[in-house]
Amino acid sequence: MKQVILTGDRPTGRLHVGHYVGSLRERVELQNSGKYDDIYIMIADAQALTDNAEHPEKVRQNILNVALDYLAVGLDPEKSTLFIQSMVPQLPELTVYYMNLVTVARVQRNPTVKSEIQMRNFEASIPVGFLCYPISQAADITAFKATAVPVGEDQLPMLEQCKEIVRKFNATYGETLVEPEIILPSNKACLRLPGIDGKAKMSKSLGNCIYLSDEPEEIREKIMSMYTDPNHLRVQDPGQVEGNPVFIYLDAFCRPEYFDEFLPEYSGLDELKDHYRRGGLGDVKVKRFLNSVMQAELEPIRTRRKMWQGRLGDVAEILKAGCDTARATAGDTLGDVRRAMQIDYFENGTLTI
Ligand code: TRP
Repeated sequence: MKQVILTGDRPTGRLHVGHYVGSLRERVELQNSGKYDDIYIMIADAQALTDNAEHPEKVRQNILNVALDYLAVGLDPEKSTLFIQSMVPQLPELTVYYMNLVTVARVQRNPTVKSEIQMRNFEASIPVGFLCYPISQAADITAFKATAVPVGEDQLPMLEQCKEIVRKFNATYGETLVEPEIILPSNKACLRLPGIDGKAKMSKSLGNCIYLSDEPEEIREKIMSMYTDPNHLRVQDPGQVEGNPVFIYLDAFCRPEYFDEFLPEYSGLDELKDHYRRGGLGDVKVKRFLNSVMQAELEPIRTRRKMWQGRLGDVAEILKAGCDTARATAGDTLGDVRRAMQIDYFENGTLTI
């Protein structure tokens, strides 16, 4: 079977380091592994509009921001098709057909949707489009017959729901759609990178993000102001490593060679953690090391982003060509779906009974 990746992000802001370790870095590795026949990376503007209907300008603005972040991390338009969701009208058509296979109770039970409804105070007035976005996400995935979906952990319930739709569709109309597999980062620290304030999630509204496009000085300031173990008051006090954002970031970003380069007096992360636990290692020293690590990781990304920022016309062309490719693929799947559902009325000449 053809190995296909489909994944994407909502264009509601610039992408941050949580997106990077949670999914972007993995996508680039998968892209360069040569194991996939096709790779589709989607800017999910239609999904972003499900809770930003009043702010189309925000969504529009961030199309290029997200595209630049994609190119900056190393997604390569020669190997991956970058496209915009709303430019592929086959996706909402598939969504409409899938809606008949899902109950209202089932979408309301989706844990991600549930918590998002709470976060947005939607309880009394949930937009129908918002409630149905997991179904539209199943359309995104199945339209490309994706076998693998590299996403963050918060997307697990979406993948579960997508698989259920695929099974129901295939059982009802015959084997047509492909069940996808979620690909999560293998490194635990990457599953949910906390914000610099120690809050469980990095999010733009909480103002606790380090963006891929941040300048070196912004990165340094953010790292030096990071929340650490609140009981580690004096250098000599024993400190806690578990749940400490500075160490979670090191777990997510540090490579062994960074010790040789920036902190040669330690053999590696384990020794650094032991010292912190024992006491005698100050937060400032650990933060300085983390800053060196993050600067080293983010510098090439920022440089590539600036290069593409100087070629916005080319970026637009890449997206436009990507949308054409995506429409063609989604059109083929829609043909299969219509045939399976017996609504391919004029495919073989005239309509018969
Ligand atoms: N829900 C994803 C996010 O919030 C975006 C998305 C839309 C997506 N459709 C998708 C991700 C299909 C993977 C596959 O970032």
